[in-house]
Amino acid sequence: MARRPLIRTELPGPKAKAIVEEGEAWTSPSYTRDYPLVAAKGEGAWIIDPDGNEFLDMTAGIAVTSTGHCHPEIVKVIQDQAANLIHMSGTDFYYPVQGALARELAKRVPIKGGDVRVYFGNSGTEANEAAMKLARWYTGRPNFIAFLGAFHGRTMGALSLTASKPRQKERFAPFVPGVYHAYYPDAYREGSAEVALKRAIATLDDLFATVLPAEEVAGIFVEPIQGEGGYVLPPDAFLKHLRALCDKHGMLLIFDEVQSGMGRTGKLWACEHSGVQPDILTSAKGIASGLPLSAMFATSKVMSWPPGAHASTFGGNPIACATALKTIELLEREYIANAAKVGAFMLERLKQKVGHLPMVGDVRGRGLMIGVEIVLDKTTRARNPDLRNQLVMDAFAKGLLILGAGRNTIRFCPSLTVTEDEAAVAVDVFAELLESR
Ligand SMILES: Cc1ncc(COP(=O)(O)O)c(C=O)c1O
Repeated sequence: MARRPLIRTELPGPKAKAIVEEGEAWTSPSYTRDYPLVAAKGEGAWIIDPDGNEFLDMTAGIAVTSTGHCHPEIVKVIQDQAANLIHMSGTDFYYPVQGALARELAKRVPIKGGDVRVYFGNSGTEANEAAMKLARWYTGRPNFIAFLGAFHGRTMGALSLTASKPRQKERFAPFVPGVYHAYYPDAYREGSAEVALKRAIATLDDLFATVLPAEEVAGIFVEPIQGEGGYVLPPDAFLKHLRALCDKHGMLLIFDEVQSGMGRTGKLWACEHSGVQPDILTSAKGIASGLPLSAMFATSKVMSWPPGAHASTFGGNPIACATALKTIELLEREYIANAAKVGAFMLERLKQKVGHLPMVGDVRGRGLMIGVEIVLDKTTRARNPDLRNQLVMDAFAKGLLILGAGRNTIRFCPSLTVTEDEAAVAVDVFAELLESR
C-alpha cells in the first residue's frame, strides 16, 4: 500500500503550537504563512512535524528541494564540505568548488552565443538584481520591460520588475525608474493561445509606439513559465517573438528561470522546450537542493564588467557550491527524467480526477510545475480566490502540503524525486477534498 499522510493530532499539535507561537512572537509579520506547518524533519517528499504528523509535500519548500528533503548524497556532501571549508568569500579569494561549479553550469546553460560566465548570489532576487545591473552596464541603456503577473523578487530592483500582487509593492514606491510592464499571454484567460499571443504582441507594439523608444531598452525580463503569477505557460511563439524583438533593437533577452529551472519542467531549463536562447539567464531555488545559492549567466562579451562592479560576500559559498555540483549529478542521473515522467503522470491524473469538477477551470503544467485554476464558474471563468485559499487550508488538515500561485491557482511543485505512487496519493487526496465541497 502506498504511504499516505498521517495526521495523529489536532493541527497544529501541542509541540508544533509552541513553535508557531514563538515564531509569531519574534519573526517579521510580513512572512506569508498560509497554514501552521512546523517542519521538524524532511525525507524525500515527506515532512514530519514535531508531533509526529506526516505530510506529503507538494511544495518542496516553494520549489526548492529539487533532490527531495535530505537526500543522503546531499547530506554527505554538505557534511564533507563543512569539515573542509565553510566560508572564505569567493568574490575576494578562490576555492576549488566555486570555479568547478561555474564550469559545470556554464556548459549546460543555453545562452545565445555560448562562452558563458557565471555570477553567484544567494537568492533569486539577487540574481535578478545582478542581471538588471549587468544589462544596464553592458547596453548603457536605462529601461526594462517585464510582464504583468511576473515575480522576480522583493529587493528594490527586482521588486520594480515584479508585478504579481499589490501587497508586494504597497508603500514601497518609488521603484527603480524605467520599468514598463506588458501583457503576459494566458491562453486559458483569453480563450486560446492565438488570441493571447496576439494581445501580448499588440501591447508590446503599443509600448514601443507610444512611451518607450526601443533603443533605450536595456532588456526584457521574462519567466519562460510564469511561476508566482499562476503557473501560466505562454505559447512558444511568444518567447520567439521576444527573441526577435531583442535582436532587432539590441535589447538583452533575460530569462528568469529561478522557479522553472533546474530540471523542474523535465528539461534542465524550461526555455529548452521552446528552443529560444536568452542573453542572460537567472537561476536559484532548486540549484543547490535547499542551500542558498543563485546564479546569473551571460556570455563573456556581455559579462565584461570590471572588478568591483558587482559582488557579494556570501555568493557562491563553498557548501552551497559543493551541494549544487552534487545536485546537477543527481538531476542528470535520474531526477530530470523523473520530473518529466511523474509530471506527465500527475498532470493526466489531475485532469482525469478533478478536471471535470465545476470549480476547476484549468489544469495545466509542464513536468512538475503544475497548476489547477479554481473558478466560480466554468463558463465565465470567474476567479475564486476564497475557495482556492480554503482548499489550501483543507489540504493541510488532510496532510497534503500545497501552495497557491497567482490569484486563484493551486500549484503542485514537489521535489523532482517524487514517485508515481506519491503523486497519485497527492492527486487522490486533493480530488477527495474537491469532491466533498
Ligand atoms: C521566478 C522567480 N524569480 C525570482 C524569485 C525570487 O527568489 P528569492 O525568493 O530567492 O529571492 C522567485 C521566488 O519565488 C521566483 O519564482
